[in-house]
Amino acid sequence: MLHRPERLAFLASGTGSNVRAILTAIREKRLGCRAVCLLSDRAKAPALELARAAGLETAVFGRACWGDHAPRADDVLDWLRGQAVDSLVLAGFLRKVPAVLLEAWPGAIYNIHPALLPSFGGPGMYGSHVHRAVWNAGCRVSGATVHLVDGIYDHGTILAQASTDLEGASGPDEVAARVLAVEHRLFADTLERLHRGTLTVRKESPLHG
Ligand code: GRF
Repeated sequence: MLHRPERLAFLASGTGSNVRAILTAIREKRLGCRAVCLLSDRAKAPALELARAAGLETAVFGRACWGDHAPRADDVLDWLRGQAVDSLVLAGFLRKVPAVLLEAWPGAIYNIHPALLPSFGGPGMYGSHVHRAVWNAGCRVSGATVHLVDGIYDHGTILAQASTDLEGASGPDEVAARVLAVEHRLFADTLERLHRGTLTVRKESPLHG
């Protein structure tokens, strides 16, 4: 039985366009969840200002809080517990989620990847690196994947995917733009289906068994 998200914490490292798309879906009543807070690993992440303007609690936790050996990971755990969230939404987040968070929110940590996993995923495959690899491979389509986060980059159970045709695309930047438009629709739609309990999974990742 999949977790049904209600109170969301965002994790974002960058511009936050996916956060903005989800906040818009909530405001327009296309998503029945509550956006509670946002944390970033970068003090200058524009996503922080976007979240503050939307009235969300925000915080910054630096590199010692992330990865497989994260001495300060408990700081993040304590802060998130204080926000009383039930789901973590990685929206343009570039760090590896430490085990203490995976254990605290099992099956309730979501990520969006800008490609059709398992292709073009894994360490180093983020942002423009993904779109350049797709372009150089001569792919005719690309897309986005929403998946559960586990201890391996871009490896967790696939929850939803959507594709975009690359016909007439001029290069990797055009691929990125078309995929980002897909992400903005797919993430909110997938969270709403999870919230309603109407999403079914085709294959559980072995780490989620
Ligand atoms: C997006 O392509 C997302 O798939 C990836 O980070 C990129 C930037 O996201 N995880 P955003 O504009 O900061 O939401």
